[in-house]
Amino acid sequence: MTDLHLVVDRSRGGLAGQIASELRESIRSGRLGRGARLPPSRDLARDLGLSRGVVVEAYEQLVAEGFLEARVGAGTRVAAGPVPRPEEGAAEPGASHHGRRPTSPDLAAFPRQAWLAAIRHVLATLPGDCLDYGDPGGVAELREELAGYLRRVRAADTDTGRVVVVTGVAQGLSLVVRAFAEHGDPLAGGGPVLLAVEEPTSPRQLPLLRRAGARLVGVPVDAEGIHVTALAGTGARAVLLTPAHHYPTGVVLSPRRRAELIAWAADTGALILEDDYDAEFRFDREPVGCLQGLAPDRVVLAGSVSKSLAPGLRLGWLVAPPAVAAAVRRARGELDLGSPVIDQYALARFMRTGGYDRHLRRMRREYRRRRDALVRALAEQLPELTVHGISAGLHLYAELPGGWDAQRTAEAARTCGLAVDPLPSGLVIGFARLSEHRIADAVRELRARTDGQNVWT
Ligand SMILES: Cc1ncc(COP(=O)(O)O)c(C=O)c1O
Repeated sequence: MTDLHLVVDRSRGGLAGQIASELRESIRSGRLGRGARLPPSRDLARDLGLSRGVVVEAYEQLVAEGFLEARVGAGTRVAAGPVPRPEEGAAEPGASHHGRRPTSPDLAAFPRQAWLAAIRHVLATLPGDCLDYGDPGGVAELREELAGYLRRVRAADTDTGRVVVVTGVAQGLSLVVRAFAEHGDPLAGGGPVLLAVEEPTSPRQLPLLRRAGARLVGVPVDAEGIHVTALAGTGARAVLLTPAHHYPTGVVLSPRRRAELIAWAADTGALILEDDYDAEFRFDREPVGCLQGLAPDRVVLAGSVSKSLAPGLRLGWLVAPPAVAAAVRRARGELDLGSPVIDQYALARFMRTGGYDRHLRRMRREYRRRRDALVRALAEQLPELTVHGISAGLHLYAELPGGWDAQRTAEAARTCGLAVDPLPSGLVIGFARLSEHRIADAVRELRARTDGQNVWT
């Protein structure tokens, strides 16, 4: 067994990333030779005084990058093959943290065999002509599958022509805003876009929206979702919201607010951008249909496989009124001529053969168990926290009591292996990536740490 000397700086946070980074360097420099056996995660965690989850996360990351190999019963070893060059490492320091969002799905559960079968089928059967430049709005087979799926699962009101394939919600929203900003409001012929966003909202999306040409105005969210009277007061021409499961607080837009919102859009001619980012995962109640199904000529629905399969696939969709769909398709053609076709055909095949539905059913059951484990552990160990937004999605929102410092609590939680983002008065905590057992351990450890160190302001 190789003896490891790792230096970890607890005050910096991102401990799994630090361990991964040290190991990566040791492998690159040859200090850890090919085939060298690493200590079991439990032993290394004990030596470093960290939770096992942190070490497991670091090992998993390096397995995914090709630096390590893990075999059941044989432990974890340095890979026998060539060491990935720096640019091949998926998660250099910084980049690694970039990918670690609390809302990310369990990437170990990616249906590799089924995806491989779909890719194999596509490569075996696709006529050569289909590999040419295609429709920048996406291949027709995938748009057709998506239209059927979204009608059935999200109660969308759509046909194939309204669906545009994009690389994700992020690009879809950028393209809509860009189409507005460059060509004028495709619905009403207006000028630059004053876009209302929820407050709080996902801070990661704001630079992207600004870059696409939006001027942003925040509108508060309360226990029923976005405040429509306040929205009307802004004079916005469009609004971006997460009605199925507000990011970050998890509020579901109430029926009353849905009706008010649609009435506002109809009265003012404004466009609603519906970010449906995690709507596949609804645990305690019947799925709430998308807003788009209620007002197909005023709503653009944006979704992706980033929560259902993996963010790295970069596959998503818009369902848009025909004029908006045409403007977005044009904008995509001018930007980069469209998405890779083999993956689009593979997703179409995966959906058509029932693989996508099966995967979602399996993950829904699994995530529900993990969510229950997190809710239970928080109630037992940290009853001071008030938990919100547990009916759907891959994260919950834990409100901190007065006097707790969100930043420091988040750092402590990360040290325990939890995926967390701090907000001014609470934490977004993801539950998709840890087993039930590890969730319980991590929360127990967080209790011990919050007792032992000062997380109060
Ligand atoms: C609020 C919100 N919308 C959308 C997404 C997904 O974006 P994309 O589909 O581009 O991966 C995320 C990802 O974390 C998110 O948090």
